[in-house]
Amino acid sequence: MRCYLHAFLLCVVLTLCSLLYVFSQLASTLEDRDEGGVKEQGTAGRSGPDTGHFLRKKPGLTGREEDLDRCKSLSVSYWNPYWRLPADVCGVNCLLETTLRERSGSAISEHRDEVSHLAMVACGPRLEETLTMLKSAVLFSKKPLHFYVFAEDNLHDSFRSALNSWPRRVLNKFKFTIYPITFPKDNANEWKKLFKPCASQRLFLPLILKEVDSLLYVDTDILFLRPVEDIWALLSQFNSSQLAAMAPEHEEPRTGWYNRFARHPYYGKTGINSGVMLMNMTRLRQTFLKNDMTAFELRWEEILMPLLQKYKLNITWGDQDLLNIIFHHNPESLYVFPCQWNYRPDHCIYGSNCQEAEQEGVFILHGNRGVYHDDKQPAFRAVYEAIQKYQFGENMEGSLLQPLEASLEATRHTYCGRASHLFTKCLKQSIMSVHRDITQSR
Ligand SMILES: *[C@@H]1O[C@H](CO)[C@@H](O)[C@H](O)[C@H]1NC(C)=O
Ligand SMILES: *[C@@H]1O[C@H](CO)[C@@H](O)[C@H](O)[C@H]1NC(C)=O
Ligand SMILES: *[C@@H]1O[C@H](CO)[C@@H](O)[C@H](O)[C@H]1NC(C)=O
Repeated sequence: MRCYLHAFLLCVVLTLCSLLYVFSQLASTLEDRDEGGVKEQGTAGRSGPDTGHFLRKKPGLTGREEDLDRCKSLSVSYWNPYWRLPADVCGVNCLLETTLRERSGSAISEHRDEVSHLAMVACGPRLEETLTMLKSAVLFSKKPLHFYVFAEDNLHDSFRSALNSWPRRVLNKFKFTIYPITFPKDNANEWKKLFKPCASQRLFLPLILKEVDSLLYVDTDILFLRPVEDIWALLSQFNSSQLAAMAPEHEEPRTGWYNRFARHPYYGKTGINSGVMLMNMTRLRQTFLKNDMTAFELRWEEILMPLLQKYKLNITWGDQDLLNIIFHHNPESLYVFPCQWNYRPDHCIYGSNCQEAEQEGVFILHGNRGVYHDDKQPAFRAVYEAIQKYQFGENMEGSLLQPLEASLEATRHTYCGRASHLFTKCLKQSIMSVHRDITQSR
């Protein structure tokens, strides 16, 4: 009799355990979706995307430090369905987490330390803008960063001393390397002239940074409103033929530039924008690319010059046009991410047309055409100035978010100003998440 009772109890316990597991799974998937997708890290950098996917499904191996910590300090009843949990509590089972964490501690710490590599090219009067962009990168990121700063020689000292003047606590989060602008010897002048001075440097990054596996290239006029590691995580979603990721140039074909004016091939319906460009450079260096110049396929290093020669009279936006031509012929090599990762005035100037941003907010703001520095789009300028004025160490809610919300309020006479709640939506979450970490580490 006692034996039956034991068996029965065992059954009950097992059932409860499996229920608990299902709930925790459900809750964590739902939470991820709420936060707008890619929060997790795969095993990028060490093994292929497929293994990454497999690992991501297991709780405790997701590398989400924040969740682990949150669970630790709050007691949650697991029998509460996910929708009854307080907003700031993850529905992940802590017991399970803890045991898994102990067993796979090394795996987690490796994820925690995965570095996001960020490159930019700064020429002319772009020093302050670049520093503001870098500030936005370190403010919200929790994982380590490596900056590859390509700059004209006369800016090197200013960059070095500005970055080194940041507080020690901030400096611990990143490394940086400063490089001169270099072009292939034979055609240096032709490349320098292309588009804005120095912009075409980015095409050569896979050849210059030979030892770097993957890189996020950004224009200096972008601002991160979300941790850098979140866009970095998209690398692990590449399928086997994808080697770069960018956002569409336009959402709305009626106002698109490429589909109305381009005198060269371009990617997809409206072309792609290269202001935020994620690259697996290992693949970029290895892959042979189809093209309309030779009957055979060419490597990255071989394709650029013939392309420039053929199209130089027909291109308007310089190296971005060349990238459009390349991915027109190799569409399977491009991963297209949604507009909220590269949100420009085009997305709101005549009314909001970036659907993903409508839902989840803007992740990366791109103030192209100088809108951070003139009065054409005051909402963009307000975000830039709020981050620029913020001093490390101040309370981000009081000294960044609140002043920003106040100045955005004053831009509501513009279309972009009316969409500006999208600018702060994700920013608010990023700031709260950093705050949570700070309070917990005390
Ligand atoms: C880039 O691609 C190479 C070759 O396919 C792969 O080994 C590497 O893990 C990839 N890097 C990332 C960060 O996914
Ligand atoms: C450049 O544009 C002209 C005019 O539209 C077109 O006739 C020509 O074929 C284009 N050149 C190339 C290489 O596509
Ligand atoms: C990778 O995804 C792209 C875009 O969806 C697709 O065109 C391509 O065929 C895929 N490649 C493989 C190997 O599945």
